[in-house]
Amino acid sequence: MVNMMQSYETAKQFLAQYNQEHLLNFYDELNNEEKEQLINQICQIDFKQIFDLYEASKTDKIIPNLSIEPLPYTIKKELSQEELKYYTSIGEGCIASQKYAVVTMAGGQGTRLGYKGPKGTFELDIEPKKSLFEILCEHLKEANEKYHITIPWYIMTSIYNDALTKKFFEEKNFFGYPREYVYFFKQSELPLIDVSGNLILEELYKIKEASNGNGDVFASMKQHGILDDMKKRRIEWVFFSGVDNVILEIVDPLFLGLTISHKKLIASKTLFKENVEDKDWIFAKKNGKLCIMNSCHLTDEMKIAKDENGHYLYRDINLLAHLFHISSLDKIATVSLPYHRAFKKNAFVNEEGMKEIPESPNTYKFETFIFDAFSLFDEIELLRVEKEDEFAPIKDFNGIHNPEVAKELYEKKYCLK
Ligand code: UTP
Repeated sequence: MVNMMQSYETAKQFLAQYNQEHLLNFYDELNNEEKEQLINQICQIDFKQIFDLYEASKTDKIIPNLSIEPLPYTIKKELSQEELKYYTSIGEGCIASQKYAVVTMAGGQGTRLGYKGPKGTFELDIEPKKSLFEILCEHLKEANEKYHITIPWYIMTSIYNDALTKKFFEEKNFFGYPREYVYFFKQSELPLIDVSGNLILEELYKIKEASNGNGDVFASMKQHGILDDMKKRRIEWVFFSGVDNVILEIVDPLFLGLTISHKKLIASKTLFKENVEDKDWIFAKKNGKLCIMNSCHLTDEMKIAKDENGHYLYRDINLLAHLFHISSLDKIATVSLPYHRAFKKNAFVNEEGMKEIPESPNTYKFETFIFDAFSLFDEIELLRVEKEDEFAPIKDFNGIHNPEVAKELYEKKYCLK
């Protein structure tokens, strides 16, 4: 008990430095186990890091003399039959020789969808119903059958969904996938900050923390031995995507073959940005560095600029489908990617000690993005694909990326053939 008292006093003094003593408001109501849990959590959180991020995010970073250049890209539907055949056969050779692995980044909170449980367990309302994880698994199984192999499948989880995700796979018997080819690894987390600049409690004994963005995938893979595992298996190419796009080709020999043929180390699939005024993240070079940048930084001329063949220069947007050569991953894993601030809806314990679910976003979350790793490379292969062929993400119930639309696109692609 003396120790607990001492730890309590130390934690209290520590919190005082950051004006966060409110996190101990309900301490006296906790049982011993909960007290210990809260004190341990306080000792483990890097308060300096989170408040530095918060302070830095208050001011807009203006990059002086911004120079923006377009990037070359390939349009899938403009490739000839010969080209399609050629690139595809190269990709197929690589996949068939077991040099290809898939990483599913499933550590997000899915706050917009507001579904209780890991987003990958959300079921698409098709006949029979299938969870997002099952749909991904079916894409993989189809490729395994075609190439007579088993593709290693690495799934990134997070503090809030790791145990639930693993339990779900167990319950579903891994959808028949050989379980020795499925690996879960947990990404890191950071505390959330409310609009008054304070950390929040999610339980009386627990500070709310959440995954720190899909850019953490590289560091987490290294930390949990995933990169070593891939190397042991002689994997050469690793495909990364999210958990919620139900029609994305996650084993795409054309994309892979094109990247290999053009001798690139990284690649992304893109979509054509149809409405020039939409606020999207577009592929470009910013001050000489590869990036995905907010289209608001483009001038009006750039927004409609075309090359000599009549192709738009700044209209390729991100659909979260990236390919990295294994040799590039070690390098990225040791680099700190920049943090971005997102505003998200998160339940919290209010001043009366009651749990409150807000109607709208109430907390800042600090996240790194996988695409910020592009800036470490000089070149990227971009393959522009068609929206109806590869883009049906589920993001929320009311916006354009809702489950109904995803279902229609899924059925159109796979059921009405
Ligand atoms: P989103 O940007 O759509 O975020 O993630 P989200 O967390 O799923 O949903 P919202 O914004 O809270 O509604 C795109 C992909 O990146 C993964 C997500 O799981 C999703 O597959 N992701 C996101 C992570 O793996 N970790 C993170 O920290 C964030």
